[in-house]
Amino acid sequence: MELDDIDTVGVVGAGTMGSGIAQVASVAGYRVVMRDVEQRFVDSGFDAIESSLDRVVDRGAVDRATADDARERIEGTTDLDALAGADLVVEAVTEDLDIKQSVFATLAETCSSDAVLATNTSTLSITSIASAVDRPERVVGLHFMNPVPVMAGVEVVVGEHTSEATVDLAHAFAADLDKETWEADDRPGFVVNRVLMPWINEGIRAYDEGVAEKGDVDRGLRLGTNVPMGPLELADHIGLDVVLDASETLHDELGDRYRPAYLLKRKVEAGDLGKKTGVGFYEYD
Ligand code: 3HC
Repeated sequence: MELDDIDTVGVVGAGTMGSGIAQVASVAGYRVVMRDVEQRFVDSGFDAIESSLDRVVDRGAVDRATADDARERIEGTTDLDALAGADLVVEAVTEDLDIKQSVFATLAETCSSDAVLATNTSTLSITSIASAVDRPERVVGLHFMNPVPVMAGVEVVVGEHTSEATVDLAHAFAADLDKETWEADDRPGFVVNRVLMPWINEGIRAYDEGVAEKGDVDRGLRLGTNVPMGPLELADHIGLDVVLDASETLHDELGDRYRPAYLLKRKVEAGDLGKKTGVGFYEYD
């Protein structure tokens, strides 16, 4: 499979990441089939795409006609078999290895045998996900960052059996979506989450242990290190459940230095997951 052979992109999952990936692929000119398990999730994926396209038009990144065409090129479905004609699929479902493996096993059966199967997993092993597929050389990590339409980079993650051709194609596809790439070996958290999650957890612990008010933990990191968001704001932005999940995988695999902060667990148990529920470390309208 070469970049020029890719006409249709399948996206599994219409949540924050899946809808963002569908959007940037369609803006780049690909036909996109976006699938989620229930129609209401597909609908909310389209709502997110439409409001995000409005924002990219407002800031002049694309013109109205391009955005309207992009919206038209995305088909929504609840049927995984509807991705049968996709040349490249990006999976962005919940961070659960069993669910991801079952999605990949179905894709391997329905899609053509040379379709590239990519996962947007934050921390799970590409090699474990690929073990559900007959030709694991075509499985690769394409780890997009949130919000996908704004963030400049994509991490290409190389599994044990990922072929060089698949890796090359992953870089070329991301470049075609106007993203810069870097490459990471299939080890827990790859590059970004391996470094980011302990930073976020240490910020939560600094607040929880009374080192500073939460606003000052964030201000300290923003003003002191020139990042756009401090650790608590960024945790709310990513979703506290996603942060806890990623932190637990890192902790399981890499030991105690990756233990999730106690307050992070308590907030997730309370259902306060950040921006998406309206309450995390901060409150949102
Ligand atoms: N779609 C389209 N455009 C969007 C958007 C979206 N979803 N979200 C923001 N924008 C645009 C806005 O329209 C705005 O454009 P403008 O500057 O031309 O007006 C611009 O982005 C900035 O947005 P805002 O003014 O609303 O807000 P901020 O200036 O605070 O920026 C932010 C928001 C881009 C999210 C910025 O705070 C940021 O970069 N934060 C860090 C995000 C980050 O680190 N993400 C990676 C997390 S790690 C990850 O995703 C990995 C995973 O596995 C956990």
